[in-house]
Amino acid sequence: MYTQLTKEEIMLPQVSIADIAQFENEIVTIQGWLYNMRSSGKLRFLLVRDGTQVIQCVVFKNDVSEETFINTDTLTQESSLRITGKVTADKRSPIGFELQVKELQIVQIAQEYPITKKEHGTDFLMDHRHLWLRSSRQHAILRVRHQIIHAAREFFDNRGFVLVDSPIFTPSAAEGTTTLFETDYFGDKAYLTQSGQLYAEAAAMAFGKVYCFGPTFRAEKSKTRRHLTEFWMIEPEVAYFDLQDDMQLAEEFVAHIVQSVLKNRQYELQVLERDTSKLVKVIAPFPKIHYTEAVAIVKKNNPAFNEGDDFGGTDETTISESFEQPVIIHHYPAAIKAFYMKRDPENPQYALAMDMLAPEGYGEIIGGSQREDDYDTLLQRIHEHHLPVEAFNWYLDLRRYGSVPHAGFGLGIERTVAWICGIRHIRETIPFPRLMQRIYP
Ligand code: 4AD
Ligand code: MG
Repeated sequence: MYTQLTKEEIMLPQVSIADIAQFENEIVTIQGWLYNMRSSGKLRFLLVRDGTQVIQCVVFKNDVSEETFINTDTLTQESSLRITGKVTADKRSPIGFELQVKELQIVQIAQEYPITKKEHGTDFLMDHRHLWLRSSRQHAILRVRHQIIHAAREFFDNRGFVLVDSPIFTPSAAEGTTTLFETDYFGDKAYLTQSGQLYAEAAAMAFGKVYCFGPTFRAEKSKTRRHLTEFWMIEPEVAYFDLQDDMQLAEEFVAHIVQSVLKNRQYELQVLERDTSKLVKVIAPFPKIHYTEAVAIVKKNNPAFNEGDDFGGTDETTISESFEQPVIIHHYPAAIKAFYMKRDPENPQYALAMDMLAPEGYGEIIGGSQREDDYDTLLQRIHEHHLPVEAFNWYLDLRRYGSVPHAGFGLGIERTVAWICGIRHIRETIPFPRLMQRIYP
């Protein structure tokens, strides 16, 4: 639901529909688009939306000029208009009020609108994403997304983290070389960032507790319901943190986000028909299991699973469906994880890594770890992963000058939106999704 303004904050005479209750029996002007119209004799009932809400506007022939009444009949779906009228209480209205129209100014008569009440296929809707955003379901999803981002920033801001954003053009890979988008940078190669982490590590050595938040890019050649090629990630990084601290921060963070959406976005969750009883249970602490325990769960469903491998989408679903809360899996085999992760000193075949899987089969929403803080070991890992040392010299400096234990994680915003909204596919969780086969509109 739209955040309501006080009467002083509203720029009269223009009023958002969501604020209309404060103007009972007063004359106001709203500006919006026609959603639907119905006629009956001397009456026209216009459903008008302005992005905050929908209100019924009643045009009575005797209340308006003849020209206005004739013009009303030329209105088409999505025509833009300004309406001045009296706000009157109406018990049948979902918002409790309607508008008795005095004046109606047409801004533009819309051409035949392609999105109608009939069912449209996903491809059609995705091709018209720029218009689809006007529908109530998309509205609800994007308002939940906004709330998630707001809550995520609020969480770190209230805990003394400094926002230090990372660059989008980078000279090196953070998350493996197979999903890099390469660009030409004045004759040199540059890559679109896969994660801000390495820069967040530099910032953590400068400020202690930091986070970065921005778009990240992966040339994912997989066409799954969980992968975008461009997605937004929020990444905290903390000096002197170990894996335990990192897991605790992650669970408190996710619980905060879910509770903030429940508190502020009930209306949208209702529009999405989300069963919120599942979300109410998302309170820290979350269950935490070792990789080997997760393997045991997976093997019940998939006996062929090879211990040591990474979990696939179906395996993640199996694990997450075994818990009502999000679940954290820690100590993954080092061999399947990124070069920068510190290994468990007691058992070096495992990395001090953790992933958080959302419940209800939504899979991984967070990936994080304690970082390798020893210069020689890190250099060796860079070689083992066949990464170009020149590109990582600055990163190695962080281990030359006052290296400390540190840890962090990244939360994918779109997967979090999909889970909290309870929608199957990630493509509706971002205003303009970028998928392997889609870069339009
Ligand atoms: O697990 P990932 O690859 O971790 C990192 O990038 C670390 N450098 C983060 C850190 O420690 N600072 O990605 C983190 C999260 C995943 O858990 C997932 O939520 C999301 O980013 N993600 C994607 N979301 C949508 N589409 C994709 N292709 C994604 N790849 C990762
Ligand atoms: Mg991951």
